[in-house]
Amino acid sequence: MQSTQNSIHGYWSSDRAFFLAATGSAVGLGNIWKFPYITGENGGGAFVIVYMACIIVIGVPVMMAEIMLGRSGGKSPIHAMKDHVKNSDGHNIWESVGWMGAIAGAIILSFYSVIAGWALSYTFLSAKGGLANINGDGAGQLFSQLLSSPGSLLIWHTVFMTMTMTVIGYGLKRGLEQAIRIMAPWLVVLLTLLAIYSVLYASYADSLLYLFSFDFSKLTTESVLVAMGHAFFTLSIGLGAIMTYGAYLPKSASIPKLTISIALADTLIALLSGFIIFSIVFSNGLEPSSGPGLIFQTLPVAFGNMPFGRLFGTAFFLLIVLAAWSSAISAVEPINAWLVEKYGITRLKSSLISGIPVWIFGVGTLLSFNIWSEYKIWGKTFFGVVDFLASNILLPLGGVLIALFTGWIMQKSISRAELKIGNRMFIGWMFSLRYVAPILIIAIFINIVGIF
Ligand code: PHE
Repeated sequence: MQSTQNSIHGYWSSDRAFFLAATGSAVGLGNIWKFPYITGENGGGAFVIVYMACIIVIGVPVMMAEIMLGRSGGKSPIHAMKDHVKNSDGHNIWESVGWMGAIAGAIILSFYSVIAGWALSYTFLSAKGGLANINGDGAGQLFSQLLSSPGSLLIWHTVFMTMTMTVIGYGLKRGLEQAIRIMAPWLVVLLTLLAIYSVLYASYADSLLYLFSFDFSKLTTESVLVAMGHAFFTLSIGLGAIMTYGAYLPKSASIPKLTISIALADTLIALLSGFIIFSIVFSNGLEPSSGPGLIFQTLPVAFGNMPFGRLFGTAFFLLIVLAAWSSAISAVEPINAWLVEKYGITRLKSSLISGIPVWIFGVGTLLSFNIWSEYKIWGKTFFGVVDFLASNILLPLGGVLIALFTGWIMQKSISRAELKIGNRMFIGWMFSLRYVAPILIIAIFINIVGIF
């Protein structure tokens, strides 16, 4: 039996290109938009600790497993898992990792695109000077205006979906690799400048206190589930996105080193974003727990009142768009790789076939901020439900299956050859996949029953 297969889709041009693409997938709205607001909703420091623990104990081992399954499979997750299951005489149930992940990716993109649309709209608003001298109330009104207009939301959602599916159409090397090379350094430069701004002009000490003071009494069972779900969401794991990127990884690259670098970069950027946003929140008397609108109501206040704010503001929202773009692509790449493998169609066709249903589904999310805002299931809007279903149910479930499959079913000779790590590290990794990650995920799952 052959232990590794070649990808028909080609390979990243270097380890660095993979690192940038995978970090581009990991770093997105999850870091800049979601992490700060869920930290705000879940009480601050204690939540941050649980989230970081989930990244280390569950996220890193599962991510290593996913990249390994991708590289040794050399195909889209649906086909790669089929091959892996066949080669290890496993039960068909394990193949569901591929299918479930493809569905989770489509669901995530459907709401991701709506939120990225908000950032697009703010990019133009800022460029036109629409944020000049704005205060907390003004920023709040501007944001409600956007949300209450299904027409504008639809336009921005459509623009973002078109951008995403165009890159998918062009393929990875010509589209994605190039784009990420250019935007990654800018993201770092702008975040650093905003961090300096926070220290000089905003309540940075309160922000640090909020992020790093641990009051565990504020932590609920649902907060723990949200923290774990977010660990999966932010690393883009549990749905086959990173597995697909792994399929294009040159055989010589070190999976453990890359995984740790990606997880580190992702966590640092999330913390830095939280630090910046809470500094601005506290210096403007805003509420940290104001939900999904948090960054759209806080950052404009800073940009509207700082020197060169129009320029910084425009650049910052544009970078959110770029960060979201590089993540969005990875969410639908698994389905596209599968369509190309299975039906031999062009990437342009596959991008239309996968993009249109996602675009339609996204309309549900955009309506849940206006016309449908009163319709609730389990106390959540349509957007709340799809986000909860994908991030907190499907991704962790995919993660458990990936951990258990790699830990118990797959031949160790294959994973050992792929990872090329020492015996002690390999045993530690196996232990985590066999026991630690699944037990923790299942225990947290069982607890959610209490939420409903
Ligand atoms: N990791 C991305 C973020 O944090 C979200 C994402 C999840 C992207 C799953 C692709 C797949 O924004």
